[in-house]
Amino acid sequence: MQGIYRRRIGRRLAGISVFAFLVLMIAPSLARPQSQTQADVDKPKQNTPSSYDQIAPALLGRESFQAVMAKDKADKESVMARQKKLLEERYDLTPRPDGKVTMSRGKPIQVGPTARLPEGLTWEQLAAMASDEIREKGLFPKGFLPLPHPKHETGGMVFPQMQIKQFGRLERFDVDFDLPEHFLPEFPPALYLTTRMDLGDVSQGKVVTEDNFQELFAGILNAKDLEGLRLLVTQFPQQQFNATADRKTDKPDGMRGVSCFDCHVNGHTSGAAHLVGDIRPQSHRRRIETTSLRGVNIQRLFGSQRALKSVEDFTEFEQRAAYFDGDPVSATAKGVNPLERGSQVHFMAEFQELLAFPPAPLGLDGKLDAKKFAADSIEMRGQELFFGKAQCATCHPAPNYTDNTLHDLQVERFYKTQTINGLVATAQGPIKTFTLRGIKESPPYFHDGRLLTLEDTVEFFNLVLETRLTSEEKTQLVAFLRQL
Ligand code: HEC
Ligand code: HEC
Repeated sequence: MQGIYRRRIGRRLAGISVFAFLVLMIAPSLARPQSQTQADVDKPKQNTPSSYDQIAPALLGRESFQAVMAKDKADKESVMARQKKLLEERYDLTPRPDGKVTMSRGKPIQVGPTARLPEGLTWEQLAAMASDEIREKGLFPKGFLPLPHPKHETGGMVFPQMQIKQFGRLERFDVDFDLPEHFLPEFPPALYLTTRMDLGDVSQGKVVTEDNFQELFAGILNAKDLEGLRLLVTQFPQQQFNATADRKTDKPDGMRGVSCFDCHVNGHTSGAAHLVGDIRPQSHRRRIETTSLRGVNIQRLFGSQRALKSVEDFTEFEQRAAYFDGDPVSATAKGVNPLERGSQVHFMAEFQELLAFPPAPLGLDGKLDAKKFAADSIEMRGQELFFGKAQCATCHPAPNYTDNTLHDLQVERFYKTQTINGLVATAQGPIKTFTLRGIKESPPYFHDGRLLTLEDTVEFFNLVLETRLTSEEKTQLVAFLRQL
């Protein structure tokens, strides 16, 4: 009896609260000025479609995969022509290999600067000008501005041709990679293990894949790390590479997805690019160049801006969020593979933490080994500048050449907000101080890969830090960076 009575009271209370709720809902609309309609209030602030609106037409078959692919293929030539024109305006793309200095496995590094100067100006004249003047007169070198994705409106993972030649499944039908191969890391790159530095490069000149990881690493890794590596070379669905009608590959093998080491080849990088998942609208999302995973063991923040606190977190985040442009709806629709923390994420992270920087002629303090470089050598002079006048060590201190934090370089002091091939180039905010260990092996530089050579980075910082280095000092600084 008591039970029934209580339920009745309950129902009555529910009735009262429904009434109160309706009053609360209607009251503001009564108070609203006559001119404003409900439709006005409900209207979203920006006319951006929801994530489901974006993928539903393709997934639900309103526009067939074949129709989308035909249109994308037809557009590809003009998309690539637009990007080529932009790159040629920004850079001198002629190969200028250094005669002596190479990456670990022999690919020559390129000599810059490649960024084109505004007509009639020298680097010295530019560095003597105030940032306000450079901005107002539009004199900041175009190659120092944020770099758009080759198809910014669509974005997504794009792999260099040198890689597609070997792994056809990574080819997209709507866009190709844009930067010339000579400005990219060597392929395949060397692989060093912190635990087995005695072995040197353990890659045997191969790309580590599902097919060969066991034969390459048996007897070098324990079973747990081997399992971590297996997961790192296994393909999982991603936004452009998956089995739905909203994919960008027609190769059946590409429908299985991508592996971590498709981008982070051999734990390093192929230079593959993407758009960051964190930002909206699309026009403001930054191009991001694949970072090397060498030396993640000494790093404390992961991602150029997101600053996740562990390799484990980043491993989980990559596959759940970054793979799908930070959009859980797409992730669900396209077949996200959530990794299990204890038995998968940890294993994968453990292997990543073993990836070492390439060997360098540095002493215990991380500075040039005094036995290998004469006191008056160009490299030693460069080191002096790095820790002195050029101010690099403020943010890139030895021994690891990163302060493990983020800095806002306020580059927007030098340019007006402008739209470049679909990218709104505006203030970029704080970015992670990437380490400079092994830096000669991971061009192009910066989070978006806008700087093609080490000479470009030195000219860039000379403007940004207003250090007024002479051209001789710049050469010395580059000679030092090449040793790291
Ligand atoms: C597009 C190819 C691509 C694939 C595939 C990919 N990554 Fe990345 N990864 C990137 C890019 C680009 C960044 C830089 C992100 C940024 O700047 O915010 C990055 C950053 C990272 C970082 C942080 C490095 C740092 O210096 O802060 C880790 C760790 C990482 N990835 C691990 C993984 C793992 C594990 C997988 C597989 C689950 C994976 N990545 C798959 C492109 C890729
Ligand atoms: C105020 C802190 C700060 C100072 C000083 C500084 N850097 Fe950096 N450096 C950064 C940040 C932050 C980034 C990442 C910028 C980005 O990706 O947009 C970076 C990136 C770089 C990169 C590219 C790394 C990569 O993996 O792409 C190079 C090379 C570099 N710095 C060299 C130098 C040199 C040489 C100097 C001195 C002339 C210098 N930096 C001074 C903060 C600093």
